[in-house]
Amino acid sequence: MRDVAIIGVAQTKFGELWSNSFRQLISDAGLGAIEDSGVGGKDLEAMFVGNMSGGLFVQQEHIASLIADSMGLLPIPCTRVEAACASGGLALRQGIMAVASGYHDVVVAAGVEKMTDVVDATPAIATASDQEWEAQQGATFPSLYAMMARRHMYEYGTTREQLAMMSVVNHMNGAKNPNAQFRNEITVDKVLNSSPVADPLTLLDCSPVSDGAAAVVLCAAEKAKEFTDTPIYVRASAQSSGTIGLHNRRDITTIDATKVAARKAYEMAGITVKDVDVTEVHDCFSINGLLAIEDLGFAEKGKGGIALEEGQTMIDGDFPINPSGGLKARGHPLGATGIAQAAEIVWQLRGDADKRQVDGAEIGMTHNVGGTGGTCAVHIFGRDKN
Ligand code: COA
Repeated sequence: MRDVAIIGVAQTKFGELWSNSFRQLISDAGLGAIEDSGVGGKDLEAMFVGNMSGGLFVQQEHIASLIADSMGLLPIPCTRVEAACASGGLALRQGIMAVASGYHDVVVAAGVEKMTDVVDATPAIATASDQEWEAQQGATFPSLYAMMARRHMYEYGTTREQLAMMSVVNHMNGAKNPNAQFRNEITVDKVLNSSPVADPLTLLDCSPVSDGAAAVVLCAAEKAKEFTDTPIYVRASAQSSGTIGLHNRRDITTIDATKVAARKAYEMAGITVKDVDVTEVHDCFSINGLLAIEDLGFAEKGKGGIALEEGQTMIDGDFPINPSGGLKARGHPLGATGIAQAAEIVWQLRGDADKRQVDGAEIGMTHNVGGTGGTCAVHIFGRDKN
């Protein structure tokens, strides 16, 4: 397998973007990443796009063709990749494997979702859960994650205030990110007193419904310096599948798919969690951010809440998490999230993250979850190849 580098990245603003069409969002991100990379149109060989549901959110399927066409990239092969909220992470992995295998030299990996055109996004999002055992019984994603939160509080004494800190830190960081959906700082009290969504989770524990797109350009590492002075290398790409429904899990206070993907990724990169300088985790709900802190190995099982409370995840903390603002504050256009996480890590490792820069970051990680953990992708990136 060949080494792979990221040579260009871009992200549209995330939010409720009424004046941007689906095709415009992905074209802006894709063409932005191509421009950032310095490659010419003729160098691009393929594109992989993460998208959870063009059909449910904008009544558009066959999006791969639509995207290649609207970006002016015909006739290169464009492939849609779907794994719920992990669609972007898996599109990234498909692009990495295409280049690593030698099949292609330069490809785009992107992600897009336009969710705010529907009146109620909740039933559409719920199609990513187990239909027979969860959605058809009335479960929604907030309620599934609420059950995980309750159980974690029961098993480990995690407090409501500790969970709220996940959102507080995300908003603190999002306030520094010009592409973030929410740029306001919040307090623990504000989280606790915002509208109840699914007890114990309130509005400010939840990622929002978002529109947006992101893209990266991947290139064989040996050619990367032809295009850029600051390639960021892919040190590991790992993916794991878990039980789609909560009812069959051995334990709902942990996500096994995260643990397995993380273990494989650390092995592949030849590092331990202690070597990671900055991480973007999948905090679709505050509890999932807390679980990621534990399942990726930053804190012992049951101690994620304490790590949050002590500020260990802040930009200047022991293990900075979500300098972008995370899904909570940057926003969560489902298919775009895994790619936006990679874009943030590239900016961090290039030293281009401005006010949200983690000082001296050399190794970064992304953690992208589909559903409540049916899929997980973990990627590790470095300023150096190894
Ligand atoms: N965080 C902070 N503010 C939020 C928000 C969030 N997650 N969601 C909405 N808001 C704000 C809106 O900006 C709006 O503010 P305004 O009145 O100042 O304009 C206000 O709350 C009401 O917005 P609305 O869109 O009516 O909220 P809602 O009650 O319909 O939706 C949730 C709130 C939490 C139900 C919705 O954001 C949600 O479903 N989130 C989870 C998405 C999800 O499941 N993703 C997949 C994860 S696996």
